[in-house]
Amino acid sequence: MLYVGIDLGTSAVKLLLMDEKGDIKKIVSKEYPLYFPNPGWSEQKPEDWYEQSVAGLKELLEGQDKSQVAGISFGGQMHGLVILDENDNVIRPAILWNDGRTQKQVDYLNNEIGKATLSKYTANIAFAGFTAPKILWVKENEPENFKKIRKIMLPKDYLAYKLTDTFCTDYSDASGMLLLDVENHKWSKEMCDICGITEDMLPTLYQSYEKVGELNHELAMELGLKDGVVVAAGAGDNAAAAVGTGTVGDGACNISLGTSGTLFISSNKFGVDSNNALHSFDHADGKFHLMGCMLSAASCNKWWMDEIIGTKEYGKEQEPITDDKLGNNHVYFLPYLMGERSPHNNPNARGTFIGLTMDNSRADMTQAVLEGVTFALRDSMEVARSLGIAPERTKICGGGAKSPLWQKMMANIMNMKVDILEVEEGPSLGGAMLAAVACGEYASVEEAAKAIVKVKKTVEPDPEIAARYEKKYQVFKQIYPACKDVYDQIADQG
Ligand code: XUL
Repeated sequence: MLYVGIDLGTSAVKLLLMDEKGDIKKIVSKEYPLYFPNPGWSEQKPEDWYEQSVAGLKELLEGQDKSQVAGISFGGQMHGLVILDENDNVIRPAILWNDGRTQKQVDYLNNEIGKATLSKYTANIAFAGFTAPKILWVKENEPENFKKIRKIMLPKDYLAYKLTDTFCTDYSDASGMLLLDVENHKWSKEMCDICGITEDMLPTLYQSYEKVGELNHELAMELGLKDGVVVAAGAGDNAAAAVGTGTVGDGACNISLGTSGTLFISSNKFGVDSNNALHSFDHADGKFHLMGCMLSAASCNKWWMDEIIGTKEYGKEQEPITDDKLGNNHVYFLPYLMGERSPHNNPNARGTFIGLTMDNSRADMTQAVLEGVTFALRDSMEVARSLGIAPERTKICGGGAKSPLWQKMMANIMNMKVDILEVEEGPSLGGAMLAAVACGEYASVEEAAKAIVKVKKTVEPDPEIAARYEKKYQVFKQIYPACKDVYDQIADQG
C-alpha cells in the first residue's frame, strides 16, 4: 500500500509518497507566494495552497502504481486564519503564524481578559501569531469581512475540506488557535464568546490519525486514483514532524530548524508552564507536548546567505568554521528578524549583531547567525529545564538540520546528544505515517514510529566546546533584556 504525506509549509508544499514499510518512493515540492502587505504582516492565498497541492499530487503520482494509494494526510503550518463565507469562498488571504499585526488584540487578551483566565480556558496565553487574536483583528479592522464568516479553519484543514468536503481539524493544530480547551479536548465556549464567534463556525475535532473522510470522487478521477482513498486529519507541522522523527512517548525531544525553529517535548501527561512561555498543546499521538517556537531560525541563515552575502553555497560558507572556532566567537547575533515568540513574546524584537570588531570576517558573522539561532532555542530549553524537564538527547529536523556544523553547535550549545536520522523528512513523513495509522497499517502512532524511524548516528557534545559555549550563552541571554527598550523605540518610530 502507498501513503501520501502533504506538508503545507510557508514557502512551499512538500508531498511525500511512502510504502507500508516507510520506504520513501518519491518527494515533490511546489512553491507559492508569500505576501508581506505591511511591515510585520504575513499572508498567503489558500487557493494557491490547494492549486499547488493538486499539481504536486499529480507530479508525485506520475509513474507510480496509483491503485496502491490507500491514504493521505497532512502536516500544516500552524495558527493561520482561514475564513470562508456562506458559499465556502475564501473571504480574505490567510493571516499566517509569523504575522505580527495583532499586538493590540494580544494585549487585550493577555491584560484585560488576563493570562490566568486564558490559561484556565486553553492552557495557553495569547501570542501575536495565534489564531484568536487574528479573529479579533478582523472583527475590529475588517467588520465587513467579519460579518461574512461562516467557517474558521487552519491551513491544512482547508486542504482537507477541499479534498473531502469534511469541515475538520485535529487537536494538535487546534491547540494553537487559543480556542481549544487543550486538556479536555474540546472547544472553549468562553473563548468563542470572547472572540464573538459561535462554535458552529469551528471545525469538528479529530485525533490526527483518525479518518475524516475519503478523497472526493471528482478529484480521485482527476488524479487517477480509485474511490475510497482515506484522508486522515493530520497535524500541525511540528506535531507531524515529531511523528516523522519518532518523537512520541514521555520526554522525547525534537528540534526543528526550518523557517521557524521549535523545541518540541512530548509528554504523556498534560502540563502547563506557570509563565506560559512554552506552549502546552495536544500531540498527534493522542497525548500532549510542550513547545517553544522562534519565528526565524534557518530563515536567518537563508536571509544572511541569500540577501546579505549573496550566495547559495551555504556549505562552502561554513567550511572556515572549524572546531577550534566553536565557542570562541565574540560576535553575537539575535535572530529576531520577524520579532520573537518564545520565550520573549515580543513582535517588536529585531535582528541584532553585537560585539563586532575591525578584525571580524564574514565567516565570524555567519557563525554568529547559526549560533544566535541555537542560543535562542536554548532559551526555550532553559524554560523546560526550569520545570524539571531535561531530556538528555534530541532529534533534529528541518533544512538547517542537514548542516553538520549546525548539528555540532546544537549538541554543544544545548549540551545534549543529537540523534541524526536515517531519513529526515519531518512533517511530510509524519503526515504519511498518520495516513498509514488511519488505514490500520499500524495500530498506533507510537508503533508506526518504532517501525519506521531509525537513528543513523549521534552527535555528542564535546566537554571543552560545551564549556566554552556555556560561557557564551551566559552573555547571550543578557543581550535581549539590554536591547528591549531600544526595540520598542525603533517600533514606535515606525
Ligand atoms: C509553531 C509555529 C511554526 C509554524 C511553522 O507554533 O508557529 O512552527 O507551524 O509552519
